[in-house]
Amino acid sequence: MKTILTGDRPTGKLHLGHFVGSLRERVKLQNSGEFDKIFIMIADAQALTDHAGTPAAVRENILNVALDYLSVGLEPKKSTMFIQSQISELFELTAYYLNVVTVSRLERNPTVKNEIAQKGFETSIPAGFLCYPVSQAADITAFDANIVPVGEDQAPMLEQTREIVRKINELYGEVLIEPEILLPQNKICCRLPGIDGKAKMSKTLGNCIYLSDDSKTVAAKVKEMYTDPLHIKVSDPGHVEGNVVFTYLDAFCEDEKIVAEMKEHYQRGGLGDVKVKKFLLEILEEILTPIRERRAEYEKNPAEVWKMLERGTVEAREKAAEVLGRLKHAMKIDYFK
Ligand code: TRP
Repeated sequence: MKTILTGDRPTGKLHLGHFVGSLRERVKLQNSGEFDKIFIMIADAQALTDHAGTPAAVRENILNVALDYLSVGLEPKKSTMFIQSQISELFELTAYYLNVVTVSRLERNPTVKNEIAQKGFETSIPAGFLCYPVSQAADITAFDANIVPVGEDQAPMLEQTREIVRKINELYGEVLIEPEILLPQNKICCRLPGIDGKAKMSKTLGNCIYLSDDSKTVAAKVKEMYTDPLHIKVSDPGHVEGNVVFTYLDAFCEDEKIVAEMKEHYQRGGLGDVKVKKFLLEILEEILTPIRERRAEYEKNPAEVWKMLERGTVEAREKAAEVLGRLKHAMKIDYFK
């Protein structure tokens, strides 16, 4: 069996960084026909580990993320999309996994460490937040997933999941499947910069192009994109390193030859930013137009989207219950069976 599990926290609308970093890849995997089962989780419980005070926003973003999924081409018939918090089996699994994890190991997780610094938690770290990698191990193992397509920043989660799996299997016999990470092929796609040229496209930095942005908004954002501050006259030789427009062409243009030629021309001098931006905008519009069209259809009927999530959740829950049953049996805590 080849089973995929992956997911996202519903903390906002998805943007082009998500698209090249994971969504585009997921659709390819979905349509490759190589997988027996694909689970896509909207990790609302994980979002609540650092947004406990704003469940209404999390709820709203569940719909946003589901709309983003459907509009990029994930199909409920091929990929089971579901909501984490509605599967109580995940929380049971988490409870047992927590017993094989030390507090110091949790504090060493580099991604969590970064987030703690970023969010300024200092000494008031929510315990649920510190433990979310363990809950993520439950997310992955509850579906017998062996392949987890995620961005680089999730590598420490996979490492920790694998440790938990080995520990549990060592204690109770071979109950859990050890998953492998599947990283995006293209390096730029791991870390798409924002339109301001800052390290990463991110909601907090306000430098995103969203999948739900209309043509006008995208055109305006491309227009203000960071290029080469030393490239003043069209005839000046320009720099392509750190020039966001070219980084995006690398990430989005399928025709590498054209991009190579444009880079060469730009570096030589004689190619203006306006022209390059116009070309990029055409490519982005080619990608975003079908996404917008699908979104417009689904947006007409949010109740149907919630129904789709409900059906996915029922199916996912069955699988999680099977795995939890297997673990409890192996632990000999299925007393009434
Ligand atoms: N941590 C992931 C993120 O921040 C979301 C997530 C939760 C996830 N559970 C998962 C990803 C299981 C892959 C597998 O985007």
